[in-house]
Amino acid sequence: MKIVVLTGSPHKDGTSSLLTERFIEGAKEAGHEVYRFDSAFKKVHPCVACNKCKCGEKPCVFQDDMVELFPKLIEADLITFVTPLYYYGMSAQIKIAIDRFYSINNMLRGADKKAILIVTGTNSREWAMKGIAGSYTEALKYLQWQDYGQLLAKGCPAREDLEKTDYPLQAYLLGKRL
Ligand SMILES: Cc1cc2nc3c(=O)[nH]c(=O)nc-3n(C[C@H](O)[C@H](O)[C@H](O)COP(=O)(O)O)c2cc1C
Repeated sequence: MKIVVLTGSPHKDGTSSLLTERFIEGAKEAGHEVYRFDSAFKKVHPCVACNKCKCGEKPCVFQDDMVELFPKLIEADLITFVTPLYYYGMSAQIKIAIDRFYSINNMLRGADKKAILIVTGTNSREWAMKGIAGSYTEALKYLQWQDYGQLLAKGCPAREDLEKTDYPLQAYLLGKRL
């Protein structure tokens, strides 16, 4: 499979980057081709809803680093979203990139794609990941993509906390079992 891993953390060595690395390791070992796009370290302008693109008929008015991601998204079989939990949703960095999917919406929606969600957050309460999992599920319904797994790593404020859990192993296995 061709896999795009889209990340949203500004921490190069944080919690979600550890899960990203383990997931990619597993997926590569299983023979998959992985392209990683770290949105926090790319130039990505927010969508301004000008609708010049008409959801894919014309290029987006912003010719920034998304130009590199668009063809990868179109050809991907599976897209893995990895984000820290920010105010019970995705980080702004990854959300800005996702909103820009609008300019190729017609090529993404209804295409035969799968998705995975990986999240890290501090709160360990039962409800902590409900909002982010809900918005991911609804976006997938709209896009008509198939959910291929969710790894919601609660109670992990920092990398050393995450390292004491089996979430990194779960991330590895999520990739390896694809
Ligand atoms: C702006 C901001 C908002 C956050 N919001 C939440 C939150 O709503 N719930 C939560 O459990 N943790 C929250 N956190 C904590 C992070 O999700 C947590 O530290 C995570 O492990 C960071 O991932 P990273 O190291 O990959 O960046 C927030 C952190 C920041 C900086």
